[in-house]
Amino acid sequence: MKAYLDNAATTALSQEVIDEMLPFMKQHYGNPSSIHAYGREVRSKMEKGRKLISKLLNCSPSEIYFTSSGTETNNTVIKGCVKSLGVKNIISSKIEHHCVLHAVEEMGKLPDINVHYVDLDEKGHVCFSSLENLLDKVEGKTLVTLMHANNEVGNLVDLKSMSVLCRKYDAYLHSDTVQTLGHYPIDLQELDVDFISGSGHKIHGPKGAGLLYINGNLKIDAFIHGGSQERNMRAGTENTYGIIGLIKALELAHENMDSDIVLVQSLKDYMIEQLESKIPNVSFNGDAKGSSLYTVLNVNIPAGKDSDMLLFNLDIAGIAASSGSACSSGSSVGSHVLSNIGGVCEGSASIRFSFSKYTGREEIDYAVESLERILGL
Ligand SMILES: Cc1ncc(COP(=O)(O)O)c(C=O)c1O
Repeated sequence: MKAYLDNAATTALSQEVIDEMLPFMKQHYGNPSSIHAYGREVRSKMEKGRKLISKLLNCSPSEIYFTSSGTETNNTVIKGCVKSLGVKNIISSKIEHHCVLHAVEEMGKLPDINVHYVDLDEKGHVCFSSLENLLDKVEGKTLVTLMHANNEVGNLVDLKSMSVLCRKYDAYLHSDTVQTLGHYPIDLQELDVDFISGSGHKIHGPKGAGLLYINGNLKIDAFIHGGSQERNMRAGTENTYGIIGLIKALELAHENMDSDIVLVQSLKDYMIEQLESKIPNVSFNGDAKGSSLYTVLNVNIPAGKDSDMLLFNLDIAGIAASSGSACSSGSSVGSHVLSNIGGVCEGSASIRFSFSKYTGREEIDYAVESLERILGL
């Protein structure tokens, strides 16, 4: 038996997405910048897709850009705001994904750029009073970059309240929505944020296809220079089939969103229930039973013999889970998220299980049984 419980790291491609992409690998291989028919048919497919995405997110097609990843999108925004919008202050948190955290740190090395981190409450949620204090204190143009949902513990932020606060203090707002785009309805008119990011492979789409939304009132510089692709915002021949797959994945995610939310939340609830009944003193990091992604469950197993080998032993049993964010798995560095939210006991093991609509209850049963066996219960 095997269990894939690492859907926050990446998801399986859905068959519909593969079917949509294949013709653009086999027959329709034109370069969308070419003016002949081969190029035009691909360009037309991409532009129809851009329109579709703008409808799903309630924005204009001219506000949507395709990139290579969530990482590239986040870098484009953070670096672009400093370079093009004259941002002097960046307000972020210590539990952002590394692509935000490290991009912010890089900007902080520049002269005249000040980086500030919001306080987090005992469950790891952004403390809004701390955000407001910082917004009130800083002088000069400010970018707030705070993720919509945390990829390791699942904590969800109230993006609308955050945008109201940012507007009050005239700050730009970027939110890393890589774990929420396609998982929750996102209405950009209603939310009133300036930048968001997305990634195809978190929603049963392809890897190497990302999305960037820039509020039409703002203009930032390109991150990659060269040709005039993506209206001069992102040079380089487009990953056409990746983009086409991303569009299809987002369309499908929206079509089935309500039922998928109910289904996947029930899987998470089931795993919580099973763990609580079978593993003594188990607890959950972050706000698992509160404002939290329905796809992510970060489990804390009390200290015991071989705690540090837990993930390895699960892997041997055929169970894919994660100790932190995917991009750091395989590295021996502990989770920067867990070390910044507190409440995690010395010597205990934390494991992130994450679910999708393709996860079966039998996979959860197998993971819980395996944990019991590995822990010698
Ligand atoms: C919250 C968050 N932001 C950004 C990324 C990076 O996205 P990508 O893998 O497309 O570079 C990830 C991926 O794990 C993520 O979870």
